Amino acid sequence: MPSKNVSLKTEEELKQAINQEKLPQHVAIIMDGNGRWAKKRLLTRVMGHREGIKSVRAIVEASVEVKIPVLTLYAFSVENWSRPKWEVNTLMKLLVEYLRKELAKMMNHNIRLMSIGDDSKLPDPVRDELHYTIGQTGQNKGMILNLALNYSGHQEILEATKKIAIDFKKGKIQEKDINEELFSQYLFTHGLPDPDLLIRTSGEMRLSNFLLWQLAYAEFWITPILWPDFSRKEFYQAILSYQTRQRRFGRVIEE
Ligand code: IPE
Ligand code: IPE
Ligand code: MG
Repeated sequence: MPSKNVSLKTEEELKQAINQEKLPQHVAIIMDGNGRWAKKRLLTRVMGHREGIKSVRAIVEASVEVKIPVLTLYAFSVENWSRPKWEVNTLMKLLVEYLRKELAKMMNHNIRLMSIGDDSKLPDPVRDELHYTIGQTGQNKGMILNLALNYSGHQEILEATKKIAIDFKKGKIQEKDINEELFSQYLFTHGLPDPDLLIRTSGEMRLSNFLLWQLAYAEFWITPILWPDFSRKEFYQAILSYQTRQRRFGRVIEE
């Protein structure tokens, strides 16, 4: 008999158990395991990605319902370009399809779309659809849905460093101005709080170059469940687990 098993509860019970006073202000998700999900069913990897989009829809809706202010989804890394060409092309096609289909829902739910990563290297149709959707949802004041596309944590930090060097040369900033707060403003995520909770599916215990600066003090929740099988229930469990954590930030907390 598992001692602390929340999974015996229904999805609705888990949702109701979430403490609105202790919500993570930013949840970041490494959506992993689409390929393995497909392989287990003797399907092509692309079918795994298609199925993964269903989980994206469910988790975006769940986040809106529980009122998570910012949700960042790792959709495509700089390293993912080295996958087979057909897989990359399909991922890009699926992305355009997703943005087109979801715009109405984003407007209905007051979701503002954002992206992080180097969008200049994305194929034109993806970049165009992305910019269009970002523009259309720009005035929405509800949840921020942030897609990491062609994203690399190392590259983000290097780009920030270069921009700081340029502003230093122009005399806009001085050496004494360079602190954590200023550095954060040069990252793609400027203006967003750092993630409080990082979820990774498919059991891998690594960051895969995701939000290296911003995840410094995030709480991790890793599940063996593959992304296409990840449902609202697991999402609520992750939030509930987060709410039981004692975040010490290096301090000693007296009991
Ligand atoms: C995550 O699933 C989706 C992307 C990286 C775009 P994977 O495609 O990495 O699935 P696995 O890890 O091979 O199972
Ligand atoms: C991380 O997953 C990237 C995304 C989820 C977009 P990967 O499947 O690319 O990561 P590795 O290769 O297992 O580290
Ligand atoms: Mg993977």
